[in-house]
Amino acid sequence: MMAEPLAGELPVAEPLSSEPLAAGQRTLSMAKPFANGALVLAPMAGVNDPVFRIICSSLGADLTYTEMVSAKGLSYKNPKTASLLSPGVEGKPTAVQLFGSDPHIVADQAQQLEKDFAGAIALIDINMGCPARKIVSKGEGAALMKDPVRAKAILEAVVAATSLPVTVKFRKGYELADDNAVEFAKMAESSGVAAVAVHGRTARQFYHGSSDKELIARVKQALHIPVIASGDVFTRSDIRGYLEDYGADAVMVARGARGNPWIFTDCEPSLEERVRVAHWHTVGLMRVAPRRLHSMRRHISWYFTGTAHAARIRRSAHDCKELRDYEALFEQILAWR
Ligand SMILES: Cc1cc2nc3c(=O)[nH]c(=O)nc-3n(C[C@H](O)[C@H](O)[C@H](O)COP(=O)(O)O)c2cc1C
Repeated sequence: MMAEPLAGELPVAEPLSSEPLAAGQRTLSMAKPFANGALVLAPMAGVNDPVFRIICSSLGADLTYTEMVSAKGLSYKNPKTASLLSPGVEGKPTAVQLFGSDPHIVADQAQQLEKDFAGAIALIDINMGCPARKIVSKGEGAALMKDPVRAKAILEAVVAATSLPVTVKFRKGYELADDNAVEFAKMAESSGVAAVAVHGRTARQFYHGSSDKELIARVKQALHIPVIASGDVFTRSDIRGYLEDYGADAVMVARGARGNPWIFTDCEPSLEERVRVAHWHTVGLMRVAPRRLHSMRRHISWYFTGTAHAARIRRSAHDCKELRDYEALFEQILAWR
């Protein structure tokens, strides 16, 4: 018998059972979204489906981000774009990340989102860090780090259009040797944003090399608003390091949360717990985003990385097509123990 899947109707889930969070006040105040060392699920395109966000919230993430959503796509009422959005767990609103290069379009869409999802959105974040060619070639994402005048116009327009807190996420710079994050952060602060999130790699680095953690301290020193650290967060000690050694106000977990939402709880999951959560995830996707069921192949390989049968599980997941294939695999995994 499989473990009980997500209780209640998605997307509002009952919390998963887990150890209580480690000591420390990590309450997320909407007035000051990033005070008190909040732990945040970073925006991740292709990873942060609505069910994964609920799982991370239930396991202790103070805030979760949507995948980046095209403001232009929303303005065309593209259903695929709109499907990237969904409310979070009740009482734990979601951060919605928009990307775009036209200040009017981005601002209009931020305003519309506030109307359509009243109470379910914690803040609007603007993506100025995505290095993907199809994004930067249109002057969006990290390309805005080379165009601070436009970047400022976008931020000011969004701040004026919504009463939600507005934040911006960017990188160390664009070119390999660039290091204009401090200047860029000051520009963002002067545009009225509530906080900045900084990833200590340049756009040209993509995800190569290591993230410049000192950069977080430099940005923090230069600003009066909260700074959210991003880059190379794989363990609780990486989280502590950013908070204690580099002065970050909050920490974003990105790749370190794939297959490991337990990073938000500080407890090591048993195999049964991994199966239970992977099953939740699969059933949840089947209910709220059935077209994305195939993405469970990747999620499953992440959920079981480092376990005794990881390679075998990855190969078997590759052949799964329908919910019953996944459920048979979960039974198998428990039997292989
Ligand atoms: C698969 C993937 C998708 C990502 N998608 C986004 C995105 O949509 N928006 C964004 O601002 N950053 C995105 N990022 C960047 C992460 O939010 C984060 O800043 C980066 O991965 C550095 O953190 P890490 O070294 O801890 O993974 C993505 C990263 C990955 C690995």
